[in-house]
Amino acid sequence: MTVVLVTGAAGGVGSAVAERFSNGGWRVVGTDRPGTRATTDAWIPADLLDIEAIREMVAQAAATHGRLDCVVNAAGLWTEGPSEATSEDEWDRVVGVNLKGLYFVTAAAIPHLKDAQGCVVNVSSDAGVQGNAGAAVYCASKGGVSNLTRALALELAPHGVRVNAVCPGDVDTPMLAGQARDFGEGDPAGYVARLRSGYPQGERTRFLRADEVAEVVWFLAQPAAAGVTGANWSIDFGLSAGI
Ligand SMILES: NC(=O)c1ccc[n+]([C@@H]2O[C@H](COP(=O)([O-])OP(=O)(O)OC[C@H]3O[C@@H](n4cnc5c(N)ncnc54)[C@H](O)[C@@H]3O)[C@@H](O)[C@H]2O)c1
Repeated sequence: MTVVLVTGAAGGVGSAVAERFSNGGWRVVGTDRPGTRATTDAWIPADLLDIEAIREMVAQAAATHGRLDCVVNAAGLWTEGPSEATSEDEWDRVVGVNLKGLYFVTAAAIPHLKDAQGCVVNVSSDAGVQGNAGAAVYCASKGGVSNLTRALALELAPHGVRVNAVCPGDVDTPMLAGQARDFGEGDPAGYVARLRSGYPQGERTRFLRADEVAEVVWFLAQPAAAGVTGANWSIDFGLSAGI
């Protein structure tokens, strides 16, 4: 039996990851904010801003099937706006979930992953490997995730645990719809058009589907990816490849 813990499992990418692993025959333990619910084998809600709740959730997740072979950290929050207007609360929420929460989920899982010779797949972003104008807080959080991925890969390699990240461009999920609604200044279509215009495909540009991200996450958790650790795998139609 192989068991994966997926954070953000009520969200677009997280639910697609849960479905992919489930279809692949893994047991899936899902977690998301209290009050959310998804259709995974086991569901243990936790607020990732609460470190004690994280530790309890990971302990319960490991106890559910008696092992933990993989952690997929897919929970996340978007924010953007001028840095001179950023509140401390906004920084704490976004960096707290995207970076600190992810780190403490992973840290709590390490003993179990060592036992199982398992792996971690972090959902970073193109914003983890390049700057996005107007999204400094999100970029700081995802840049942290991408470099933490490298450092943890080195730390855990002697223990047989691999750590990788995927770095998607825009994915058609509730997060993207929320971005357009909350930050589109009343013109969500114009916001989406601006995002599209950044891609090298020109008129052929489309956004990623969550299942396309899930497929790469799935691959990184497979024995076929045994040689891959410390990687930040871009899935962005070349968005971060250069200009
Ligand atoms: N959608 C995109 O365009 C895009 C692009 C690149 C990277 N990402 C990253 O992919 C990941 C998944 O995003 P998505 O697009 O599926 O978004 P989503 O909003 O559909 O899902 C994110 C999930 O994280 C959960 N979450 C947020 N705060 C939490 C908290 N305090 N405690 C527990 N759970 C919490 C939400 O409830 C939600 O279900 C995120 O890390 C995001 O930053 C998304």
